[in-house]
Amino acid sequence: MSIDLFAPYSIGRLELRNRFVRSATWDATADSSGAVTDTSVALYRELGRGGVGLIVSGYAFVSPLGQAADGQYGVHSDDMLPGLRRLVRVAHQGGARIALQIVHAGISSNYLRRMGMTALAVSSLPEISRPHQEMTGEDIEIIIADFAAAALRAREAGFDAVQLHGAHGYLMSQFMSPLFNLRADKWGGSRENRRRFHLEVIRKIRRAVGADFPLMIKFGVQDDKEEGLSLGEGVETAQRMAAEGIDAIEVSAGVGRAIQITRDGDPKQAYFRERAAAVKRAVAVPVMVVGGIRRLEMAQSIVDSGDADLISLCRPFIREPGLVARWQRGGEDPARCISCSQCMAIVGKSEPLECGQERRLREEAGNESK
Ligand SMILES: Cc1cc2nc3c(=O)[nH]c(=O)nc-3n(C[C@H](O)[C@H](O)[C@H](O)COP(=O)(O)O)c2cc1C
Ligand code: SF4
Repeated sequence: MSIDLFAPYSIGRLELRNRFVRSATWDATADSSGAVTDTSVALYRELGRGGVGLIVSGYAFVSPLGQAADGQYGVHSDDMLPGLRRLVRVAHQGGARIALQIVHAGISSNYLRRMGMTALAVSSLPEISRPHQEMTGEDIEIIIADFAAAALRAREAGFDAVQLHGAHGYLMSQFMSPLFNLRADKWGGSRENRRRFHLEVIRKIRRAVGADFPLMIKFGVQDDKEEGLSLGEGVETAQRMAAEGIDAIEVSAGVGRAIQITRDGDPKQAYFRERAAAVKRAVAVPVMVVGGIRRLEMAQSIVDSGDADLISLCRPFIREPGLVARWQRGGEDPARCISCSQCMAIVGKSEPLECGQERRLREEAGNESK
């Protein structure tokens, strides 16, 4: 029997209007302090109206040394609260739920490199040229406390949930990955030690926000590099996180390619489906899958087969914030996004997020009318 993707779905106490998720998307619209701007609010207003069940915000840094990129949202200080409340308000007005994604970039910060600042790294890695220094045990405890304070701020701002960014080579991925974590203390070495950071962050957040507040993770369940995190270990960690109180897991890449680019307009569909299915078989909490999902029938087949419970998309909503509403109205054409990742090239170059294809079409039309 086919499952209705447009029927309400609950993650614990969090009720969504359907099973579609806007995966976290950095949009470079925050000001230099990390505060939400009018441009950010307009973007979330449109997303909220567009039919998606849950919007996950662009990644927000938990502390200044955790900032990854320009124009990124911050949740490192109470000064950010008024702006974050505005995002929540417009998402809710459109009928969507909204989660704040929180991150520490660790060694993978383009922002700190550009500013000439030294990043805090899980381990010192001579092959990485950007300035960095290995964290002390005390640094680690402070960052865990920063995650908990950030989650509490998200709750205060009215977000419906928090999502940890545990993927794409940022700090949490770095702790899990044997390629980035060479520590010999209790934070490195064995599987148990490399996942300690995750479990401690979850415990500390739970103590801060209470048992009922939804806490999710976007989890890089496997590295795409030889000798990196294996799928088996990733799945084991997913089980441990669920036991520790994670309410939902969005499956993505660890260290490696999270965003696949295709040149022929025919994206490789659902490239993390198998990884998501492996997690789904191992945990009882809801599982989301992201990565290259562009067709409604693919989304349907993923949910019907039980490979995942929720369907998460990023780039399609950049081009078409109203995609879910269009599908719900019966328009079955695939997403108009062709997965070229031109938007990735635009965003951050002192410009907010925009679809590169749409921009090209606009420029061509402008040239023709001259
Ligand atoms: C412009 C852009 C910004 C992104 N920002 C984030 C982010 O803040 N946090 C995150 O977890 N992933 C981020 N991603 C990755 C996406 O959420 C998603 O995992 C990836 O694009 C694959 O999904 P898709 O094929 O539906 O685009 C970003 C991707 C793009 C293209
Ligand atoms: S530039 Fe547009 S079409 Fe290309 S990946 Fe980004 S949103 Fe999709």
